[in-house]
Amino acid sequence: MKITYLGHACVVLQGSKCILIDPFIPDGEIRVTPDLVAVTHAHADHMGIAASYAVPIITNNEIAHYLRGKGCITEAMNIGGTIVVDGISFTMTQAIHSSWIEDEGIGMYGGSAAGFVIRMDGKTIYHVGDTGLFSDMRLIGELYHPDVALIPIGGRFTMGPREGMMAAEFIGAPIVIPIHYNTFDKIRQDVSEFARAINETTDMKTVILEPGMEYKIKI
Ligand code: NI
Ligand code: MN
Repeated sequence: MKITYLGHACVVLQGSKCILIDPFIPDGEIRVTPDLVAVTHAHADHMGIAASYAVPIITNNEIAHYLRGKGCITEAMNIGGTIVVDGISFTMTQAIHSSWIEDEGIGMYGGSAAGFVIRMDGKTIYHVGDTGLFSDMRLIGELYHPDVALIPIGGRFTMGPREGMMAAEFIGAPIVIPIHYNTFDKIRQDVSEFARAINETTDMKTVILEPGMEYKIKI
């Protein structure tokens, strides 16, 4: 399986299927033809252009309801649940965050923000979503044994590097990829310090991906 970081929280998992998570990038176009799209929560920097895809969108009930109104195909689920779509397993995990569907005028409630544990081709990827630190990340690690954890470290709206390091410890995935930083001035971080702290004090490895870069997981 190949993981491509398109920037911010937008990640593509390419294996037997192509899965696009949180289809928003600040500049340019997302040039991917996904089989499935997953949306962690409704904020515009995650929902992005989800409504433009004609493939199943895996998301929470509230966002699914909204997207169905836009003509989308959806697979609604909620936190703690697991579904298999097109042979790919999605478990929705909790996130400590908010969620608001931005639409003309004011918008509407977007349900609970979430993360996803995705299993494809025998590999398990945990996209943490936007969240503060919570100690049940340890439980998620124990239950699902992720091979890779995608962890937000930008601060302000999510965990920063300090909390992100603890999150990496809790989850225990051998590969840690930081996301959701440096997209905007308000979430600027020195990712090298985060990487060095993890690489020097744990058995885990941090992989820093610039937008557009990919990481291949050996199967
Ligand atoms: Ni958010
Ligand atoms: Mn966000």
